[in-house]
Amino acid sequence: MNPNLQAHAGPSGSIDFCGLRDLPKISDPRGSLTFIEGKQHVPFAIQRVYYLYDVPGGAERGGHAHKALHQLIVAMSGSFDVVLDDGRLKHRFHLNRSHAGLYVCPMIWRELDNFSSGSVCMVLASNRYDEDDYFRDYGTYLAAQALA
Ligand code: TYD
Repeated sequence: MNPNLQAHAGPSGSIDFCGLRDLPKISDPRGSLTFIEGKQHVPFAIQRVYYLYDVPGGAERGGHAHKALHQLIVAMSGSFDVVLDDGRLKHRFHLNRSHAGLYVCPMIWRELDNFSSGSVCMVLASNRYDEDDYFRDYGTYLAAQALA
């Protein structure tokens, strides 16, 4: 087994562990309500929330992988694409519903693009911000995945 992966808790390093998850949605004539509880609707305790907004047309975000971070990505408004890449397989997800989230396990390279005007990308994360948790170089990421 790749020694870089041994320290990771839970699923890691394969797109097979990632995917769209439906979130609870309570609708009535006054509108809709969605809620997300840590370890209930996402497989981790939520330590941080951040969001991308005012993204100009044609911009690309992401372009990195996380060593240990679990995330859920939600299109709170508008739409955008998330391309997940584990070094073996690549898959493009189109996010356009605020009652579904894309779960991304650790050790997955991700790129976000195709943002619609006014879109908001919210991310729930399993840890606080830590630059040491990033792979920002694709070759280094592949080496850690034992694929370089
Ligand atoms: P980054 O994760 O590279 O953004 P993206 O993947 O969307 O392109 O972060 C961009 C900058 O913001 C970088 O300088 C780190 C900083 N940042 C924080 O300070 N805290 C955070 O929680 C996040 C996600 C980023």
